[in-house]
Amino acid sequence: MEARALRVEPSRPASKRDPQPRIVGVSAAMQRLFRVVARIGPKDITVVVSGETGTGKELVASLVHAQSTRSSAPLLTFNCAAIPGELAEAELFGHARGAFTGAVEARRGFFAQADGGTLVLDEVGELPQPVQAKLLRVLQEGEIQPVGSGKVERVDVRVVACTNRNLAAEARAGRFREDLYYRLAVVELVVPPLRERREEIPALSAEFARRYGERFGNEDVRLSPALIELLCQAPWPGNVRELENAVARMVALGTSAEIGVEAFAGALSLAPAAPVAKPTAKGTPSLREQIETLERSVIARTLAAVCGNQSEAARRLGLARGTLMDRLRRYGLESEAMHGPQVSRSAHRSRHHGETTVRILEATANAAGGRPR
Ligand SMILES: Nc1ncnc2c1ncn2[C@@H]1O[C@H](COP(=O)(O)OP(=O)(O)OP(=O)(O)O)[C@@H](O)[C@H]1O
Ligand SMILES: [Mg+2]
Repeated sequence: MEARALRVEPSRPASKRDPQPRIVGVSAAMQRLFRVVARIGPKDITVVVSGETGTGKELVASLVHAQSTRSSAPLLTFNCAAIPGELAEAELFGHARGAFTGAVEARRGFFAQADGGTLVLDEVGELPQPVQAKLLRVLQEGEIQPVGSGKVERVDVRVVACTNRNLAAEARAGRFREDLYYRLAVVELVVPPLRERREEIPALSAEFARRYGERFGNEDVRLSPALIELLCQAPWPGNVRELENAVARMVALGTSAEIGVEAFAGALSLAPAAPVAKPTAKGTPSLREQIETLERSVIARTLAAVCGNQSEAARRLGLARGTLMDRLRRYGLESEAMHGPQVSRSAHRSRHHGETTVRILEATANAAGGRPR
């Protein structure tokens, strides 16, 4: 398959040893997403990028910046989940000297530092409500007020918000400010999970093999066709990131130029507990036996992660429910599936992400007004 890769100018210069990452997007869904990014990139509107973990939301956010008129200005990312509530406000908006214990110097926040450029708010759904109110103010008025300061400063920042939650549902449930949601989601880009665009896997794997081959001094490394086929069938609940980690590990551990299927079992990120079938009196287990051992372990771990909910496990694994039941019987895992069902948030999310790839909420002059459709 021919990889049509878009080269994205990184915000930081890539070092020689760390070649420029490429965004792979050969599937119809990703091509469509790129077309929307090309259309909305240059328009100075806020964007929500949603999708499951590891699908490439941050990469899409950086593409929005790269295709905007702000591309030569700073691109900053703030992870809303990593900073506790009280600190998030000071980190985003800055603080005055003496604003709180330990604030010995005044400090500029992310908004001030991103002035003229783009600020990616990663995991925006985790932002505490009081900070959400302040964020709304920046978006509406273009003003920030550092913590402990009487002064208001003007900033010109384009916000791109990433989330792996269904933000609309969070807003309906009162966990996320509805007015902020509508103000943010002028355009919403939904990055589909990898299992819905498996045709991307050969190109992605090749790109990661190239990237890590160069990094680990094994430039000629390639993945065998049988390995690529196996990668195309794996469930990848951690999406592109999990595939990237698996390829990185196989390349790092590889001893020859061509990496074959035998490298796969040890390379799954979720797989410390994934046993490879042990050699028996008959000798090394066949490839089929090894894959079945791995399959059983992946299914058991997925079931455990969703509290035995078979529908959700089938969805995560990209299997029809009947196929999953068949595997459960074959591997004697029926009892593991008895604890469910639980309607989890991720089940809810799946419906959201399954719906459409790109949802464009009408950009109206007053984005905070009317309920977009
Ligand atoms: N289309 C793609 N082409 C090349 N690399 C990709 C692509 N999509 C994702 N990646 C790589 O996969 C990894 C995960 O991507 P990214 O961090 O953007 O995902 P995310 O959706 O923000 O994940 P999380 O929800 O965990 O924050 C990154 O290393 C990124 O470079
Ligand atoms: Mg991210």
